[in-house]
Amino acid sequence: MSEIRHFLGTDHWSDAEILALLERARELKRSPGGTELAGRILAMVFFNPSLRTRASFEAAMLRHGGHAILLEPGKGVWGFETRPGVVMDGGAAEHLVEAAAVIGRYADAVAVRAFPAGTDREAAFADPVLRGFAEHAGVPVINMESARRHPCQGLADALTIQERLGPGPRGARFVLSWTWHPSPLPTAVPVSAALNAARLGMEVTLAHPPGWELDPEDMEAIRAAAGRSGGSVEVAHDLDAALEGAHVVYAKSWGRLDLFGDPEAERAARAAHRDWRIDGRRMGLTRDGRGLFMHCLPIRRNVVATDEVLDGPWSVVVDQAENRLHVQRAVLLEVLP
Ligand code: CP
Repeated sequence: MSEIRHFLGTDHWSDAEILALLERARELKRSPGGTELAGRILAMVFFNPSLRTRASFEAAMLRHGGHAILLEPGKGVWGFETRPGVVMDGGAAEHLVEAAAVIGRYADAVAVRAFPAGTDREAAFADPVLRGFAEHAGVPVINMESARRHPCQGLADALTIQERLGPGPRGARFVLSWTWHPSPLPTAVPVSAALNAARLGMEVTLAHPPGWELDPEDMEAIRAAAGRSGGSVEVAHDLDAALEGAHVVYAKSWGRLDLFGDPEAERAARAAHRDWRIDGRRMGLTRDGRGLFMHCLPIRRNVVATDEVLDGPWSVVVDQAENRLHVQRAVLLEVLP
């Protein structure tokens, strides 16, 4: 029996394989679809809400003749217990171990969205729900966003950059800008975007206030990707200086990791940085004043970026969202047996 190929993060695939997925996504974008996945079923398990991920995975399956089933644990589906070894005398009726195995008997692949939960960062960063599905489903598992990675978003980001700057944007400047947000968000999107920018050989700047450092292992993965591609990675605490000459500005908020699980303390620390927001003046600092503005969406207007930026010539956020569809078509055609 051949080994199951999961898609849990782009860093588990080789650079050549990721570049090939991007190439395939570019080709697929030029065609409406086919019948390659006729009779195939994707189970989509959402522990958290979504617009783009849900709609684009379902559309991707339909474009290739397949079908997607939506399962929302605790919402028309039994609530799942996800902790191993727990006495299940609480609200959850079903354990992930059986749920994953059963879903895997009905579907040819399972896609899972499970954001970090609880107050233990180490436990959350082990991605227990995603890895539990990979262990027990018996079919390929696709990560639709976990604590550590949002690989399909990262691929869509890379495809969008390639469309605007060329397939090999080596040496172009990619600035990932932390932005203020009313709540602490996961680091999966910024890490996944930076990983692929580094993989494309870009000069990556991670701009954030002191204290909002990304996880050291994730930083190591980004630096390693840059090392392989000939790109570079630096950290900056002065946003305006970082934006000077940038080809790409990727805005994203994330929670301070040393205050993981303590949203009140994190909110208090964040209050001093409300000015970390992308506006027209800041986009004017980019290369010829014409840098690209990127965000994974959903975005809070006039909090993360101003109307002027989102409605202006810089924004490619809708292209990014469209590209989720095409990269996922490529992923599904690759991993579905
Ligand atoms: N970017 C993204 O994953 O969007 P959704 O949360 O709407 O799926």
